[in-house]
Amino acid sequence: MRLDKYMSAAGVLSRKECAAAVKRGRILIGGLPAAKADIQVQPGQVITLDGIPVVYREFTYIMMHKPQGVVSATDDPGERTVLDLLPEQLRRLNLFPCGRLDKNTTGFVLLTSDGVLSHRVLAPKRHAEKVYRFKVKFPLSDQDIETLENGVVLSADSYAEEWKTAPCRVYPDADGLGGEIVLTEGKYHQIKRMMEAVHNQITALARVSFCGIPLDPALKPGEWRYLTDEEEAVLKKCAE
Ligand code: URA
Repeated sequence: MRLDKYMSAAGVLSRKECAAAVKRGRILIGGLPAAKADIQVQPGQVITLDGIPVVYREFTYIMMHKPQGVVSATDDPGERTVLDLLPEQLRRLNLFPCGRLDKNTTGFVLLTSDGVLSHRVLAPKRHAEKVYRFKVKFPLSDQDIETLENGVVLSADSYAEEWKTAPCRVYPDADGLGGEIVLTEGKYHQIKRMMEAVHNQITALARVSFCGIPLDPALKPGEWRYLTDEEEAVLKKCAE
């Protein structure tokens, strides 16, 4: 692969920027300055930009802590999107959010360029678990929890058809005013509508785990990082 293509596929430099970086001697291949931007690079060669190794991967997997008020979309004419929170060079990688969180929901959003994996982990038959922390307006009773866990019928609205939710697990806090809910599907406004079905109301919602990968507590709202190799392996297992 050509060096400039490698750098742009790695999300580090555009082809034009690569040519300028070569001229300034910022790029080393195997410890020696790259001679030209269109030089061929071979697998296994160590390529650095300003001394930092540049690793090219076929697909990118990013964990983002979505803040409130940001939409899970690739672009939106009137709203800030999760893609807007990434640096410019990463926006060239055709990343998209794997599934959606509502504008006011916070927490783990996976951003990836891997369409096949995304499709697989979102397919209901794979039962990939998503864990949410929630707060509700009124304390949940044992009966409410049983109803939620067994599945509730969500009535049709302008966005979605009538739907009976799959069995799920609910772990309430001691006061019943919050807790964790573990879902294996992701219908539009699902948790909000589930709570409405038991005459309650969500007051805060955050996704704390996706496909068995917990949200990194070191990430503040709006921050992101690449998945580690171990997390990537967990994600790929989830997509099998
Ligand atoms: N359920 C909801 O109601 N909203 C979300 O963002 C995710 C799940």
